[in-house]
Amino acid sequence: MATETTPKAKKKQKDEALEDTAGQPNGATPARKRALVTGASSGIGAEFARQLAARGYNLVITARRKDRLDSLASELRHARKVEVETIEADLATSEGVSVIESRIASGDVAMLINNAGFGNSGQFGEVSLDRELEELDLNIRALTRLSHAAIRQMREKGRGTIINVGSTGSYVPVPYMATYAATKAYVLSFSEALHEEARQYGVVVTCLCPGGTTTEFQAVAGFDSDRMPRMAFQGPDAVVTAALNGARAGSAIVVPGFGNKATANVLPRLLPRFAVRKISGNIFKRVSGGTYGPA
Ligand SMILES: NC(=O)c1ccc[n+]([C@@H]2O[C@H](COP(=O)([O-])OP(=O)(O)OC[C@H]3O[C@@H](n4cnc5c(N)ncnc54)[C@H](OP(=O)(O)O)[C@@H]3O)[C@@H](O)[C@H]2O)c1
Repeated sequence: MATETTPKAKKKQKDEALEDTAGQPNGATPARKRALVTGASSGIGAEFARQLAARGYNLVITARRKDRLDSLASELRHARKVEVETIEADLATSEGVSVIESRIASGDVAMLINNAGFGNSGQFGEVSLDRELEELDLNIRALTRLSHAAIRQMREKGRGTIINVGSTGSYVPVPYMATYAATKAYVLSFSEALHEEARQYGVVVTCLCPGGTTTEFQAVAGFDSDRMPRMAFQGPDAVVTAALNGARAGSAIVVPGFGNKATANVLPRLLPRFAVRKISGNIFKRVSGGTYGPA
């Protein structure tokens, strides 16, 4: 995130940092809240870590690539003077999820960002079934288990925030990425339902539904980068700012950017379903470009 330097921007950043630290009695130094971010080694997750540190949060960051986590942790400790723990965990495995569940169970995580996720492109009959099942394990099972671990703690305290990362693909079926879009449809439905339950005991659950965002996602999914409509892409900074502001405002869903709002909310209402899936199929057939992801 670019650091703003105008007096107005500085005051806003200070206000946000103060608002995001738990108040202490009698003017004692406010205790910093702690946020846990999954998939923080790149893209949207790394940006969540940067913006949360700028808002005064201590952090637990997790992913498989420990070297990336360690270098982000050093950057943030130095630049923001916050505590940063790093945990290496493969959240597509049950053992990996258990490690993060235990960390959440220790009870000091005020915000959980369920961001780790990936997609795989290609015709369903041609892609590796193991890779598709890994998507279910990471995008659905890990997110559900970590939400459960966090909500138990937060419910007891009567406060807390969970941000689950869905996609504009949560709203439309996506031929050539069928499994991915289905996992994200789950994330949206699950998060919205949880939002409604959790608001009764003071916990905010927000589903972030980004569209194309410039990260490593496209390379991991096996997209043909020459065929991607990059004009419509957002940077992770705008996506994460929208998410954090939306969660702070208690929103159930955040769809960042005008084009994404149209994809999510307007097109599926204006057009019949057969037209929506045909349009998305035409786009993703081009983008998948005959690259069918790791075998
Ligand atoms: N970029 C987009 O266009 C876009 C659009 C809509 C939604 N999203 C969603 O945004 C979220 C973040 O993706 P991104 O765009 O930032 O992509 P990214 O740059 O590829 O980041 C994905 C993150 O997930 C982590 N991850 C992947 N597999 C994992 C595993 N098995 N265990 C633990 N962590 C794992 C990766 O870390 P390691 O590889 O180090 O484990 C990485 O930190 C995802 O849920 C994605 O579906 C992205």
